[in-house]
Amino acid sequence: PEMTRRKFINVAMGTTATVGVVSLVSALGTANPVFRLTRDKMPPVKGDVLVHALESKEGQPIRVSDLSEQLVRAWPMGKDEDGNTVIRKGDPNNILALYRFPKGQIQAPTNLEATVDGEIVAYSDVCTHAGCSVADDDQKAGAMKCPCHSGQYDPKQGCKVIGGPPPRPLAQLPIRLDGDNLVVGDFFLQNPYP
Ligand code: FES
Repeated sequence: PEMTRRKFINVAMGTTATVGVVSLVSALGTANPVFRLTRDKMPPVKGDVLVHALESKEGQPIRVSDLSEQLVRAWPMGKDEDGNTVIRKGDPNNILALYRFPKGQIQAPTNLEATVDGEIVAYSDVCTHAGCSVADDDQKAGAMKCPCHSGQYDPKQGCKVIGGPPPRPLAQLPIRLDGDNLVVGDFFLQNPYP
């Protein structure tokens, strides 16, 4: 996984941003991450479950053309001392994973109101067991696997627990379309599985 991540980072470093981090919006007193993806640059859906990797170097904007079909990575974000939006490693509150499925294949208990066109859904990748990041590798089978205690989630089914000790599904994150932008995290959505 580390090699793969590094590869993504290197790709991101060598490219010019086509998508910028826009702003942080406060919701319920907490800064939520906001990012935008240009919708027409989303890669086409292939196969049963397609997971896009979204990884960017710390402090670098996200480039949609760097999306990978192999692996989910999310990107933590925050603000620096000058108020600029930056990507920070290791802030679990700001990590998320974005999934895109063939239309109509997202299944309950996903909160369909939190999908875009019934095909794109975003989750926090903070494991509900003990807080590890589950969006690390091994996406081919369509399961998100937590490296800490082998918790497994099915992103196609609302990230419900399909293995290991996690007590509840991953938190689903709010997404919406704003024109051609896919916006994540700029409004509050209650985790339907608190
Ligand atoms: Fe994920 Fe324990 S922290 S399974």
